[in-house]
Amino acid sequence: MKLQLEIWRQAGPNSEGHFESVTIDDAVAEMSILELLDHVNAKYVEARKEPFAFASDCREGICGTCGLNVNGRPHGPGKNTPACQQRLHLFNDGDTLKIEPMRSAAYPVIRDMVVDRSALDRVMEKGGFVSVPAGTAPDADTLHVNHQTAELALDHAACIGCGACVAACPNGASHLFTGAKLVHLSLLPLGKEERGRRATSMVDEAETNFGPCSLFGECADVCPAGIPLTAVAAINKERARAAFRGKNN
Ligand code: FES
Repeated sequence: MKLQLEIWRQAGPNSEGHFESVTIDDAVAEMSILELLDHVNAKYVEARKEPFAFASDCREGICGTCGLNVNGRPHGPGKNTPACQQRLHLFNDGDTLKIEPMRSAAYPVIRDMVVDRSALDRVMEKGGFVSVPAGTAPDADTLHVNHQTAELALDHAACIGCGACVAACPNGASHLFTGAKLVHLSLLPLGKEERGRRATSMVDEAETNFGPCSLFGECADVCPAGIPLTAVAAINKERARAAFRGKNN
């Protein structure tokens, strides 16, 4: 399979970036986009050229580390699939692939296709703890959670934090990510502790670094975990709940 690649090259956060053209004529349809980049890098190393930097970890669609734009779309053309799981059979022989970092004001480029997504971690830092003594962990079977609630919480806990939702959003909003975390944390018994405080801090942090949501829906279209667009409603719902019931409820 012959592919024409335009791959982003940027030496550092303050350097000018540009696309570098690479022609590959021995790609195979079973390769993932990341494996295609490995293949390019192997050729570059052999030719004593600087390989391209890109992020990956599990390569199984679990960790959310792989983040690229392929032909302008976060992760690539496949719907709800992370870059590590998108295969070249999605393309035709002779196609051009434009591979670049996920683009958002909140994601500064570190090098080539590696971006700093720590703004998402800061949203989680604001909500991922309780400040009251919670005692030892209770027996699991003393905490009853009905099946429907458990399923809903787990569906939203499936968010892998890749940040594709932000890169796909014309406003650079993180409402799908933040909403998914708010839904999953607020539905389970231990997450009810300081629910209002958590929601307020997480939403405030999200609004500091990311844009507003206009319900375009591009975020849900690219989300590898299939988080539904309804998750964004949790932002206003949890904030209004905290305003009426107080931050510790
Ligand atoms: S590398 Fe872990 S989700 Fe893609």
